[in-house]
Amino acid sequence: MYFFASLVLSVVLHAVSSAALPAVAAAPPAQYTANPSIGGGGTQYKDSAHFRVYGVDSTTADSTLKMLEAAHNCFVETLGWRTPSLTYKSNADGPYYKMNVYKVEASTMPGAAAQTWTDANAGLAYLKVVGQYMTTPGVIVHEFGHAMHYSEKNWIDQLRTGAWWETIANFIADTYIATSTCASAKASQSLSTTPGDSLIDVKKVIGDSHQVLVDGTSGSGNYYQAWPFLAYITNNPDNYSGLGKEVLLNMIRKYKLNSNETPLHSLERLLSGVTIQKVVGRYWAHMAYVDIGHAKAQAVFASQQKSLNYANLDSNGNGKYTIKTARQPRYMGANIIPLKATGTSVSVAVTASGAYTATLAVKASSGSVRYVDVVNGNAAVTLASGETVTLVVVNTPSALALYDPFSIPADVNKGLEYSVQITGATV
Ligand SMILES: *[C@@H]1O[C@H](CO)[C@@H](O)[C@H](O)[C@H]1NC(C)=O
Repeated sequence: MYFFASLVLSVVLHAVSSAALPAVAAAPPAQYTANPSIGGGGTQYKDSAHFRVYGVDSTTADSTLKMLEAAHNCFVETLGWRTPSLTYKSNADGPYYKMNVYKVEASTMPGAAAQTWTDANAGLAYLKVVGQYMTTPGVIVHEFGHAMHYSEKNWIDQLRTGAWWETIANFIADTYIATSTCASAKASQSLSTTPGDSLIDVKKVIGDSHQVLVDGTSGSGNYYQAWPFLAYITNNPDNYSGLGKEVLLNMIRKYKLNSNETPLHSLERLLSGVTIQKVVGRYWAHMAYVDIGHAKAQAVFASQQKSLNYANLDSNGNGKYTIKTARQPRYMGANIIPLKATGTSVSVAVTASGAYTATLAVKASSGSVRYVDVVNGNAAVTLASGETVTLVVVNTPSALALYDPFSIPADVNKGLEYSVQITGATV
């Protein structure tokens, strides 16, 4: 696994006291300056315009550098992330340093493929990568994502954003690998532009969808797997105002400085005309069929759908069902409940112990999905030939929680109790 590791967080989390300086726009140089003092340097290295790779042969270095240059072109030069070549400690337009990448032995980081390290004095990140992963985009671009995020500064020292760093790094890696977003950047490095397999882990993100939306609990958390939420808010299939291509950068850049709020608080402030509860509710409704504007992720879902754990409800007879205690949706988590229609009219009546957002997702044989809100506990749909229907129930409290995903308090981890009367379908 690629990990960011507590190691880096402990470096990241120390106090930062620099005041923001006004941004100065100046064109960066074509070649950035080598800075061997970041991470210790070495004698064997190879350079590209924005990176220096240490400790591998020339052919391997070329592969690593091409990938990093493609990622830099895509995320920094095209999508506007701040380059990790600038220190986070100042807004000055330089100096621009080549980011260092070091090959290390596997024995130096048990259980990890790579780690992002930081030189906290310099305010610059560098990567340590186990040799066999030096040319693996799921590792290299993931760590590059951490380095950009570090350069963005605002979430450094903000404990409640901590677990989301992994969610973001995997989103960056998946975007690079499995979508067309970076196609022209890859072409500029003569890399294949055919999207690769998505990193989506549907067994976790759907099979354990009842967990807190971003859960950093050691061993059972979902913070590496929760990134489809970021794909949804970026691709914005519901056209909600405030979401879209720039939403993730806006969540970081418009974060209330030094507030230690969660990323959802930042997202909530970006929205207009739609609530955060509705956005999270609709995200999970879209996950019924992984209809999030991501063909490669949807292909993984299609191949694994039959084997996923959908055992959420217990039957009480006569079409009435109750959520299993262990599967009650936690804070901003969901139950995705495929229904087996027995006729063309399907209706649900939900009774719950707390605030929730529920939706019927109806998929046509063409693949398109329509969404019908459950309003005041009720929704009904008439199915056309070939349509299938899934009930999605999300625990969406009326106020956002201030919580540390690495140490989730009991009230945030408390499940939503509910029952549902289903007519025209079984579970
Ligand atoms: C969102 O906007 C796109 C582009 O205008 C449109 O094709 C799509 O139907 C819209 N979706 C919704 C749910 O309104």
